[in-house]
Amino acid sequence: MKPPKIIITKKDAWKIVLKAKEISKLKSNQKTYQIRVNIRNKCISSTYSCDSKKLINMNFECENKLLSKINMYLDIIFHQKINPYFIGHLAQSIDGLIATKKGESKFISTKENLEHVHLLRCISDVIIVGYQTVVKDNPQLTARIVNGENPMRLVIDKDNKLNNKFRVFNNIDNLGFKIISSKYKTKNHNIFTLPLTKGRFSGKDLALLLKKLNKRIVFIEGGGSLISSFFKDNIFNRLQICICPILMGGGKNSFLKTTSKSIDEINYERIKYYQMGNDVLCDIELSSRCE
Ligand SMILES: NC(=O)c1ccc[n+]([C@@H]2O[C@H](COP(=O)([O-])OP(=O)(O)OC[C@H]3O[C@@H](n4cnc5c(N)ncnc54)[C@H](OP(=O)(O)O)[C@@H]3O)[C@@H](O)[C@H]2O)c1
Repeated sequence: MKPPKIIITKKDAWKIVLKAKEISKLKSNQKTYQIRVNIRNKCISSTYSCDSKKLINMNFECENKLLSKINMYLDIIFHQKINPYFIGHLAQSIDGLIATKKGESKFISTKENLEHVHLLRCISDVIIVGYQTVVKDNPQLTARIVNGENPMRLVIDKDNKLNNKFRVFNNIDNLGFKIISSKYKTKNHNIFTLPLTKGRFSGKDLALLLKKLNKRIVFIEGGGSLISSFFKDNIFNRLQICICPILMGGGKNSFLKTTSKSIDEINYERIKYYQMGNDVLCDIELSSRCE
């Protein structure tokens, strides 16, 4: 008789995802990946199939909802064709806003979505945010909730206005960097430069820089202006919009001045939905960008 399958929890699932990230740093271009982790003195094993984009041969069980989330993270970690692979995430109210007029955005989304953001951070090779997000939120951009490794953090600060007092530049790991306009000369090793085209960095130049830095998975965490700007450049492979069941009435828009599409151009089959507490995460695969 086969032994009963081990039932895993959400935190066990995080361990599987973090292990998969470790494996992806050592192995690439395989059709399948064997993932083994020790949980409560038991070996949890499974195989990720890149063809079917899901775990197979698992010796554990969990709720379908949890399994589909694990598969979503593994799909990001083990994707192979596109490098760098760009993911954008925003949490927005039903009326399409990501922050109040004053710029407050904390606690728009649920604890579950915050955990999701922390998992996304640690499976990424770099997290990117815009200047205003640092000014308004002073975020650390670490993966502390899920006990993951912190990747490099990059702030888009074209006019080099942010000083080193912001928390993103003050972590003990010293992985806080920024990108400023190449019209400024700097010898600071935590600063990269890019040329401005019509007052902004182009998605193409950003992708080239990240490729040189060997950053495979790129997580652009906001704000709306930065995501919209790079969305217009078609750099995103995946956009994750968390819809929070609140009405804010007024504030900062998630998407600004993006190109209007016809209804026929919208491919609903490439959208998956995940319940994040009371929020719904829309995970949209975009085919716009390739190598
Ligand atoms: N709910 C969420 O998920 C979430 C996530 C992150 C942040 N937020 C909130 O969103 C607010 C900040 O968002 P935001 O849209 O105002 O600002 P932002 O995107 O954080 O930063 C805007 C700045 O980035 C610059 N920028 C944008 N695209 C650029 C590009 N391609 N190259 C160079 N520079 C570029 C803009 O330049 P210009 O001045 O030329 O436009 C502007 O100075 C904060 O209140 C924060 O709390 C919410």
